[in-house]
Amino acid sequence: MLEDWLQQIEEASSLEALEAARVRLLGKKGELTQKLKQLGKLPPEARREEGRRLNEAKRALEAAILTRREALKREALGARLAQEALDVTLPGLAFPPGNTHVLTQVLAELVGIFQRMGYQAVLGPEAEEAFYNFDALNIPEHHPARDMHDTFWLTTTPKTSQIEGAKLLRTHTSPIQVRYMSQHTPPFKIVAPGKVFRHEATDATHEAMFHQLEGLVVGDNITMADLKGALLAMARALYGPEAKVNFRPSYFPFVEPGVEFEVWWTNPKTGKGTWLELGGAGMVHPEVFRAVDELRRAKGLAPIYTGKTGFAFGLGVERIAMLRYPIPDIRAFFQNRIPFLTQFRGGA
Ligand code: DAH
Repeated sequence: MLEDWLQQIEEASSLEALEAARVRLLGKKGELTQKLKQLGKLPPEARREEGRRLNEAKRALEAAILTRREALKREALGARLAQEALDVTLPGLAFPPGNTHVLTQVLAELVGIFQRMGYQAVLGPEAEEAFYNFDALNIPEHHPARDMHDTFWLTTTPKTSQIEGAKLLRTHTSPIQVRYMSQHTPPFKIVAPGKVFRHEATDATHEAMFHQLEGLVVGDNITMADLKGALLAMARALYGPEAKVNFRPSYFPFVEPGVEFEVWWTNPKTGKGTWLELGGAGMVHPEVFRAVDELRRAKGLAPIYTGKTGFAFGLGVERIAMLRYPIPDIRAFFQNRIPFLTQFRGGA
C-alpha cells in the first residue's frame, strides 16, 4: 500500500500533479486520512499496531512529497533557464560611431580660427524681430529684402516693423551685431554662427535655409586694414599660407564703405586657382551705431557707440564645405541621407 502511494508521488510529473496526489492521499478525504479515521473501529491491540503503521506511512509520504516538490521546482527552473538562455557566441549588434554634421564641423573650424584670434562666439535667435533684422541695420522700409517673396514672415502683416514685435526667420546673422552692441561695451571682437532663411526657390546652389558666420569688431581706430588682416588670417587658416584675399566695392546698407571679399582658392583636383567669393564686409555704418545708441537709451543704458569705429563681415558656410569636399548640390546637406552624412566621420 505504502509502496503504491510512494510511487504515485514519484510519478507526479508536475507541481500540479503532485498537489493532486497529495490531496488524494493526505487531504481531508484522502486515502490515508480515511484509514486514520477508521482506526477507532479496530480492536485496541490491532489499533495500536495499525496506528503506528499509518503514522509512519504519513511521515514517509510527507517527506516524499517535499523531496518531489523540490525536484520538480528545480526541473521547472532548469527548463526556464534553458529556454531563456542567451547565446553569447552570437555576434553582437554593431553600434556605428556617430559624427557631427559636416556643416557643424566647418562652422566649428571657422569659429575656432577666430577664437584663436581672440574673438568670442555668440548666438542670436532664429526667429528675429524685424527691427533687428532690418531697421536697426539701416535697411529701409522699401528695401526689396523685406518683400514677402524674400522673407519668411512669422506675423500676418509683414514688411513693416511699424507693427510692434513683427517677427520673421532671420534672413542673415547681421541682427546679432545689433543685439550684442546694445548690451556690451567696446572694445570687443565677436563671431556669430547660425542658420538663416530666405524665401526662395531651391536648386543645386540655393536653399531656403543655409548657414552664415557673422563677424564684428568694434573699438577705437579700427580700419579697413584690420578687416583685411582678419579675413586674410582666416583665409590662410582655411587654405594655407599662400591664400590671398581681395576686396571689391559693393553695397550693404549697414556698412560704409562696403565690399564683397574673395579668397584665392586652389582647386585640389585641378591645381588651378580662382577667386572665390565668400561674403560681404565693410566698416560699420554710422547709422547702425546711431540705432544701437537709441536702443541703449531706451533700455536705460549709456549711449556709447557714437564716434566708435568697427568692421563687420558675413560669409556663407555651405560654400566653403561644397568646394572643399567637393559637394556638388547644396540640398545634400539637408536630406539626412546616412551615406552622405557618414562620409564626414573623420571630422570633429
Ligand atoms: N548680411 C549680409 C547678407 O546676408 C552679409 C554681410 C555683408 C554681412 C556685409 C556683414 C557685412 O556683416 O558687413 O547678405
